[in-house]
Amino acid sequence: MIHIMGLTVLSLLLCIATCSFAFGFKDGPLENGNFEEIPKSTDLNGTVVLRTNAIPHWETSGFVEYIKAGQKQGDMLLVVPEGFAAVRLGNEASIKQRVNVTVGSLYAITFSAARTCAQAEELNVSVKPDFGVMPIQTLYSSSGWDLYAWAFRAVFTVAEILLHNPGVEEDPACGPLIDSIGIRVLNPPKATKFNLLKNADFEEGAYMFPNATTGVLIPPNVEDDNSALPAWMVESLKAVKYIDAAHFSVPHGQRAIELVGGRESAIAQVARTIAGKTYELTFAVGDASNSCEGSMIVEAFAGRDTLKVPYESKGTGGYKRAVLRFVAVSNRTRIMFLSTYYHMRSDDYASLCGPVVDDTKLLSVRNPRRLV
Ligand SMILES: *[C@@H]1O[C@H](CO)[C@@H](O)[C@H](O)[C@H]1NC(C)=O
Ligand SMILES: *[C@@H]1O[C@H](CO)[C@@H](O)[C@H](O)[C@H]1NC(C)=O
Ligand SMILES: *[C@@H]1O[C@H](CO)[C@@H](O)[C@H](O)[C@H]1NC(C)=O
Ligand SMILES: *[C@@H]1O[C@H](CO)[C@@H](O)[C@H](O)[C@H]1NC(C)=O
Ligand SMILES: *[C@@H]1O[C@H](CO)[C@@H](O)[C@H](O)[C@H]1NC(C)=O
Repeated sequence: MIHIMGLTVLSLLLCIATCSFAFGFKDGPLENGNFEEIPKSTDLNGTVVLRTNAIPHWETSGFVEYIKAGQKQGDMLLVVPEGFAAVRLGNEASIKQRVNVTVGSLYAITFSAARTCAQAEELNVSVKPDFGVMPIQTLYSSSGWDLYAWAFRAVFTVAEILLHNPGVEEDPACGPLIDSIGIRVLNPPKATKFNLLKNADFEEGAYMFPNATTGVLIPPNVEDDNSALPAWMVESLKAVKYIDAAHFSVPHGQRAIELVGGRESAIAQVARTIAGKTYELTFAVGDASNSCEGSMIVEAFAGRDTLKVPYESKGTGGYKRAVLRFVAVSNRTRIMFLSTYYHMRSDDYASLCGPVVDDTKLLSVRNPRRLV
């Protein structure tokens, strides 16, 4: 039986691989996703892109600038996070690229962006018929550049990925900078008899550029109703950060969540439970080894029950485990995690950071009395 199931899973995986191949889809950077393929010099006037097809593989509209590393804007040196080039979108300007996708599948776009002049710059990321307007801030990194994820479900066989600056600043040279755009097909995991939570270890989520050291911001569901973190909803107002073991301390597996938004951001999932039964929610609380120091508290919620887990962070990595035991009061129990406090990195005092949550598990307890 297990063997047959293994085979089924294998052929399913093969099918996914070949199907994706058949549609020309590959996880990773978009074609010229980092803008390193240069426009012809005749298609540029200084930095200004003169033709809609000037940047290879992209279509631009409006005032778009092709920015090279080291270039200055007034007195400000423009930093390009990856390679030597990026683009800037002026008022109402946009860039787009078409990608072949599978109708019905869920995808996440990851892109690197920084604001320039205005306090409140935004990017409207869209794949018809869906869109999300995301604030581009400088709260999460001192360089100003952050990676953002946005998910969509394919409704057409061709996804037209459009990044648009809806801003109307006085200075046309203002507007967000963009670099490194990638995409990944999401495979939402299911709950099993070993865990009632889906994607409980956060292993499934937005594409991470192998060289990116900052993690990826997963926006709240008001900005992205599909969630680039399958099975989880990012609630409230601020993003959470998706981090990888290659660049951060991660309690378990390759990925975890850093709660960077204090009480203004939470991750939540609704699990199937049986009213009257006793359950245990276990999880790991730690720090990402990113100079985020201090007394932290992660609050876990299971329906009406809560548990506050204190964690003393030296900012050098480490974690502890916690258990919230509760009796389900209905068929559905909302599981949620948030950080009680805001934290700032001690190495730059400019970037929000916070405790890490990972390796969550929800199971019913067979003999609750015996285990007390
Ligand atoms: C997308 O599909 C079309 C038609 O099937 C094909 O001509 C085109 O080359 C594909 N594009 C990519 C980037 O694979
Ligand atoms: C290039 O920009 C300069 C200054 O903005 C302008 O005077 C000139 O006409 C532009 N050239 C072209 C070919 O658009
Ligand atoms: C964002 O883009 C979509 C698709 O182009 C558009 O329908 C929507 O009105 C835009 N929203 C804002 C606030 O610019
Ligand atoms: C990652 O960094 C290495 C070394 O700096 C570089 O050779 C490589 O091209 C980079 N890869 C990507 C995908 O940017
Ligand atoms: C749970 O579901 C069962 C059947 O689906 C229903 O009879 C029962 O009323 C539900 N209980 C609660 C507390 O929602």
